[in-house]
Amino acid sequence: MNKKQEIYKREGKNGLKKSRKIGPAILCIVIMIGAFLGIYNFRNYRLYKYIISNENENIDIYYNFNYMLIWNKTLNYIRENKKEVRFIGKHYTTIVPSYDISKFYHFNLDIYNEVSKAEEFKNLDTCIIDLSKFSDEYAAKKISFKVNDILLNNSYVDIYKYEDNVPVLLDKNILVDNDGSIEILREHDESKKYLIVCVPLRDIEVENNKIEINNNTSINIKLKTVPENATYGKLNYYCDNENLIITQDGVINAKKAGEYKVQVNDINKNVTKEIIVKVNPIAEEIRVDKSSISVQMEKSSKINAYVIPGDAINKELIFESSDEGIATVDNQGNVSGINIGECYINIKTIHEPIIENSVKIIVTKKTSYEENNVSGVTYINGVLIANKKYSLPSNYNPGIDPTALNAYYEMKNAANQLGFSLEIMSGFRSYETQKGLYNRYVNTYGQAEADTFSAKPGHSEHQTGLAFDLGWVDDEYADTAEGKWLAENCYKYGFIIRYPKNKEAITGYKYEPWHVRYLGNPLATDVYNSGLCLEEYLGI
Ligand code: DAL
Ligand code: ZN
Repeated sequence: MNKKQEIYKREGKNGLKKSRKIGPAILCIVIMIGAFLGIYNFRNYRLYKYIISNENENIDIYYNFNYMLIWNKTLNYIRENKKEVRFIGKHYTTIVPSYDISKFYHFNLDIYNEVSKAEEFKNLDTCIIDLSKFSDEYAAKKISFKVNDILLNNSYVDIYKYEDNVPVLLDKNILVDNDGSIEILREHDESKKYLIVCVPLRDIEVENNKIEINNNTSINIKLKTVPENATYGKLNYYCDNENLIITQDGVINAKKAGEYKVQVNDINKNVTKEIIVKVNPIAEEIRVDKSSISVQMEKSSKINAYVIPGDAINKELIFESSDEGIATVDNQGNVSGINIGECYINIKTIHEPIIENSVKIIVTKKTSYEENNVSGVTYINGVLIANKKYSLPSNYNPGIDPTALNAYYEMKNAANQLGFSLEIMSGFRSYETQKGLYNRYVNTYGQAEADTFSAKPGHSEHQTGLAFDLGWVDDEYADTAEGKWLAENCYKYGFIIRYPKNKEAITGYKYEPWHVRYLGNPLATDVYNSGLCLEEYLGI
């Protein structure tokens, strides 16, 4: 080997050595740059793709990294397409477009740190956000940041900015969002140090924890927050019963009588109060047994009126005549005819709420009756009468009256079509039959009681052949569908309920909803419309 070769070989070796040392370092750098660019481009590519493929105007992107340079292409796309992209981090949200997003990240992270510190102020009700370390270039026009979740969520806060270290009110009553963030609009030249002030709710004092109201009325729940200027956001009102409707302004509307529990709490349920609401039943309707009554001058008749529901607290009624020159009325609803004519008896509840109804009163002239006695049988104005006062001869034995029987069949036919049987339990009874019956009752119940429901022989209407006991002879017959139908319809066929309710003192007998007397028409209809029993109607 010559010298030149040796030098070459040595230098060559050296040269080779040298190149072996630099090579891996360069390779490393190239790989690192490659990796950085790879990640950078890969993230950006995915972000770009995601944004351009998303048709929404507002796009949310969740991130878990702190710093990222974003392709201008992506930012331009966002701006040109007027989209709003929110980058939502674990603690903080950034809105693009605003400023260079890469700077934003730094910026936001630092705000977050500030806010973290502010969380220590939980019970001090204030939080100071200092952005002064960021230059205008880095500061956003619109910033939003998370304050203290627990304390401020859905609360109202006041925001102050610092001017020469003195807080000056910037905005009052800003509602903190559900996610615990608020927004501050700020200009470049404004202070960057803010004071967020809130007053936590410590208690709710309800004026009355037992409220009593009437059904179908409403009331406002009165309460005070402690402290009064607490920035608690909205209160929640709640009742689990649909018959007590409660608005979110605290107005109760009662729909049904009963006792209910209402809860009021702040949105974070830091304070919860319970209120008992008692809803009283009130009069909803006044029912009357007849909508019109005919009464003779100098005679009287009764209006039966009652309130629905029966347990209404204001069920006491007053009766007033619309014209006392025609008819007067007392507190029990007894109407007295004064002069011929028409008027109304108005019926009202005494106590609020006032419910009304009215009954038409027709006052007719006083009839003087004509009494005829034909072989011991008495006719008043042509109507055969047998009652406690007027008797029949013991040999009066006409059997069932054929006209009355025909009218009965007509009525029975109509009743049958409605599913009622309307059978005759007792029709004509001879003097002898009545005698046997009456004596049996006297033996069993004693005379005084027997006289309230059984006629002495010669005094029974059954002996006229014009009276029938229908259905079944029982007090409860009046409450059956058949008994009700009979009471409301028998006049159409010429019959009346001969011994009505509340007329015992006049007829001398207990209410007999099953006993009808044939009068024929129009007399039966007139008697029915008058609301009077036969004795009253005839004026005997
Ligand atoms: N039950 C009626 C009053 C009568 O005995 O005739
Ligand atoms: Zn009878």
